[in-house]
Amino acid sequence: MNSNQYWTAPVVPPPTDGCDPLAFLGAAVSEFPDAFSFQSRVSRCIFINHPDLVKSAILNKDIVRTELLKTVTGETILTSEGSFWAGQRKAALPIFAAKKASEYVSVFHRQCAAQLERWAEVIEPLNFEQELDHLTLAIVSESLFSQVVDKKFCNYFRVLLDRIAKVQNASLFNHRFSILPSDNRKLTEAQNYINETADNIASASQVHDTENLIQILQEKGVDRDDGYSLKNYLRNEIITMLIAGHETTSVSLSWLLREIASRPEIEANVVREVDSVLSGQACRAEHLHQLEYLSAVLDETLRLYPPIWLVPRTAACDVVLHGIQVQKGETVVVCPFFLHRRSDYWKRPEEFNPTRFLVKKETLPMYSYLPFFASRHICIGKHFAYAEILTVAATIYQSHRIELVDDDSPKTPVGAGSLRIRGGMQTRILKRDDR
Ligand code: HEM
Repeated sequence: MNSNQYWTAPVVPPPTDGCDPLAFLGAAVSEFPDAFSFQSRVSRCIFINHPDLVKSAILNKDIVRTELLKTVTGETILTSEGSFWAGQRKAALPIFAAKKASEYVSVFHRQCAAQLERWAEVIEPLNFEQELDHLTLAIVSESLFSQVVDKKFCNYFRVLLDRIAKVQNASLFNHRFSILPSDNRKLTEAQNYINETADNIASASQVHDTENLIQILQEKGVDRDDGYSLKNYLRNEIITMLIAGHETTSVSLSWLLREIASRPEIEANVVREVDSVLSGQACRAEHLHQLEYLSAVLDETLRLYPPIWLVPRTAACDVVLHGIQVQKGETVVVCPFFLHRRSDYWKRPEEFNPTRFLVKKETLPMYSYLPFFASRHICIGKHFAYAEILTVAATIYQSHRIELVDDDSPKTPVGAGSLRIRGGMQTRILKRDDR
């Protein structure tokens, strides 16, 4: 295998209404592991799954973001390309630098400790995915905007994210897009509340003492001639940061905590490390780099269950990727979920084995591990996410343990927008000593 290799993208039958996207792609990958194509409702889709192909696509400036998310959030750092995107990225970078992420650790710890106390008092099983959604939204809103969004906002956010997932499944996997008038009313209600909250965050942030993302963005934004007002610009960026910065970490935490809770040996190693590193103190930034084993468990979780399991792109003009012709407007699909499970790059890929990440990350094959994507659009919140997830997991395991109420057998993922646990996750949070 070398970068001069040429590929074709054999055509597979198109997905049908109601298909499970992971099952559809999985069946095609087992026949054509490197590349294949299929017809979706919007365009021909070229699925690429070899690291060399993925690298060429990611580095190609003519393979750009699709319009999908833009229809919901407008033009923001997460949906744009070119000079607008570059300006947004440059403005936001200082807020997300590795050093800055460590400043947020006290927020991560305080928010988690408060929830933990509440969780431990609940006798009924907890819908833990929902609890983690609330926790991670509170964390990202307080860290970036010094304000905590309420539960109503979290519930309305779910409505918005479910609609995004539906649109994705309709456009890529040919699901019928049937929306009842009551669904639309609910979405409008949700959007109104989300917009109102984002506007309140924007006004309050402008008078805040400490420099925050809104103040930085405000300096860059102006009322544009095309009617895109400064108010809309700030609102869209706030909503985008809350979308990008909460569901991904929530989903990662669900899978991570489920893996730890269902594997006594891994749980014992995590507890031993947390006790030794924290020595009974509240988790602080300087502890995080010492949590080597927990970090490896997180890396392995992100390998098997990358929250952004599929990244669609559009060809802005005709391009050729190692022999594969992609025409303007066609969709190129990169899928970290399948890339991370290639048996020629990962020994026993289906096995959950954190020790594979106890090696130096640079020794991992390039473009075979992409939970945060790569190149120009590599996740700007990567350091934030690592710090947040490690702090939350360490804070929980310092004093508590998680009991899985449903069962502890391996669960299959469902590719519904982000990579959720099929059937969800019911838990009880117990004091560590209550065995
Ligand atoms: C485990 C957690 C996370 C994962 C797996 C993840 C994954 C990703 C991926 C795959 C992308 C590329 C998307 C694309 O180009 O279409 C991305 C971009 C982005 N992420 Fe994350 N993310 C995580 C956490 C966060 C957090 C905590 C924040 C903010 C607080 C954040 C903010 C962003 C933003 C703003 C972008 C767009 C970057 C750009 O294009 O310049 N992410 N993320």
